[in-house]
Amino acid sequence: MQPFPKSALKFVYEECIKPFKWPFLGCMLLILADSGVYNALDWFTSRLVDTIKSGVSEQALHQVLWIVAAIIICDIFNVYLPKQVLMYRQKALYFPVRERILSKSLRYIFGHSTNYIINKQTGNLLAKSEQISATDQILSILIVIFWDQLCHVVIKTVLLLSINIYLGLMFIGCVFLTAVVNYYANKPSERLSKMENKASSIYTGWLVDAISNIRLVKQFNKADYEKKRLSVLLCQYIDIKARSMIAWFLSYTGVGCFIHICSITMLVFAVYLWSTAQISVGDIVFVLLIINGGFMYLMELCIHFRRFRVNLAGIQAGLAPFNDKHEIEDIANAKPLKVKKAEIEFRNVCFAYPNREKIFDDFNLKINSGERVGIVGLSGNGKTTLVNLLQRAYDIQGGEILIDGQDISQVTQQSLHHSMAVIPQEAILFHRSLKENIAYGIDNVSDRKIVQAAKTAYADGFIKNLPQGYNSLVGDRGCKLSGGERQRIAIARAVLRNSPILILDEATSSLDSESEQIVAQAINNLLGKRTVIAIAHRLSTLKEMDRIVYLENGKIIEEGTFNALVKKRNSHFAKLWKLQQMEAKR
Ligand SMILES: Nc1ncnc2c1ncn2[C@@H]1O[C@H](COP(=O)(O)OP(=O)(O)OP(=O)(O)O)[C@@H](O)[C@H]1O
Ligand SMILES: [Mg+2]
Repeated sequence: MQPFPKSALKFVYEECIKPFKWPFLGCMLLILADSGVYNALDWFTSRLVDTIKSGVSEQALHQVLWIVAAIIICDIFNVYLPKQVLMYRQKALYFPVRERILSKSLRYIFGHSTNYIINKQTGNLLAKSEQISATDQILSILIVIFWDQLCHVVIKTVLLLSINIYLGLMFIGCVFLTAVVNYYANKPSERLSKMENKASSIYTGWLVDAISNIRLVKQFNKADYEKKRLSVLLCQYIDIKARSMIAWFLSYTGVGCFIHICSITMLVFAVYLWSTAQISVGDIVFVLLIINGGFMYLMELCIHFRRFRVNLAGIQAGLAPFNDKHEIEDIANAKPLKVKKAEIEFRNVCFAYPNREKIFDDFNLKINSGERVGIVGLSGNGKTTLVNLLQRAYDIQGGEILIDGQDISQVTQQSLHHSMAVIPQEAILFHRSLKENIAYGIDNVSDRKIVQAAKTAYADGFIKNLPQGYNSLVGDRGCKLSGGERQRIAIARAVLRNSPILILDEATSSLDSESEQIVAQAINNLLGKRTVIAIAHRLSTLKEMDRIVYLENGKIIEEGTFNALVKKRNSHFAKLWKLQQMEAKR
């Protein structure tokens, strides 16, 4: 998937205008009509003054009646047309644009690697997705303000030029100078707006992080710390917002004064033209209406110009994660992985996390079809990294990882993920029903199969005892279930998935011995003929394995069956086993 354009302006054009050009043009035409009607009303009013002033006659009366009729018609349009334009804008443009950007941005976030996401705060990512989808304001300013103003300026200029060429030129000059003054006066407040957006997104990110980890916050009595930290961030945000408001107020007042000077100059010039009989009283009325209405619009333009730049700066700040390229992508024409035997091979693998020392250097390990391999080693020796590499959570810097002879970097990630089921130390559950959690990732699965899988995972018993059975909600991240129950749900999920490769990463290590036994039995039901990689600190859980591999600093230093390694004198495995047995007896 292509990233969004880097520049906010280009983004607005490519994502909001180009795909919706017809509704956009439709809105522009409606606004043009609206502006035409508005100016016609002023024009007819000034003509009415001239006709009345010409004195009472049959012809004048006739003319007055026509002008009044035209004014009434324009007035009716003037009342109803803007509402129609607004409805059309919302329905044909704003809603579809927002929907497109939100869904595209979410798809892009899902395309990032797990590593990318865990390095960002979730709240921050979501805030950014919201930031870039809030394009209604930008579009509304573009169409309703800028385009509308342009229509007004052009129509008014034409009408003024038809009255007196110098009056028309003066109007153009005033509009141009106002635009220049506006541009420079807004610069400081624009800079502050950028800072405001940044501060707001830091605050939201921290807030979501603190709330989503509320249990940890409470356990460690850190609520006060989090509150203090949040209030500092909030104060910083409010402070910048206040400074930004002051800067805007100053620029607004400055531009306002300039506009009033322009209005007065134009009026004085119009009076001079009238006094030298170059324009009529009706023309002066028209100039007055322009000064009252038209220049007030220019004043508003100042507000909207700032809003436009603020919104654009907001979109620019929000675009960052949508410009970062996806780190792990399928190669062009990647084929799906075909797993028949589920043979796994790490061949001369080299890997280091970004800016870290190498974890694996020329690492080799072959796991045969249907073989069960237990991986042990001290903490931080690369066990989880190894199984993450097998799932292509990161790309390796050298060597190959093969499944049934196919390099995993050459196949589609979807098929690769489908070929394996992973049961981590902490089962990941959604705040959805138990049924949905078990069937996650499998389409159209029957209730009977779900219950069967739960039975295999020894989960059916406790689920049935819940008031709403399989329809019970599990709470945020499964907090309404015990650790052992959560693990059994994850096992039931893996049973349904029925993948040829099974990865267990400390699947029972957070459980007490009693629930560990039940979960271990559930896992035994799951093993079947699959190729299994099981990582464990508690060695007793690896007795079912065909082979044990002992990792140290990313290298295999011991290998063999459980019994052979236990018997081997001075082996690291035997020492660890003895230590754990002594601890168990205590
Ligand atoms: N996303 C990451 N970015 C950078 N370094 C990482 C990342 N994940 C792990 N590491 C580092 O890589 C090394 C190996 O970590 P790994 O999680 O593979 O160890 P492990 O053997 O599974 O440990 P444990 O038994 O404690 O689970 C550690 O030094 C760790 O700090
Ligand atoms: Mg680990």
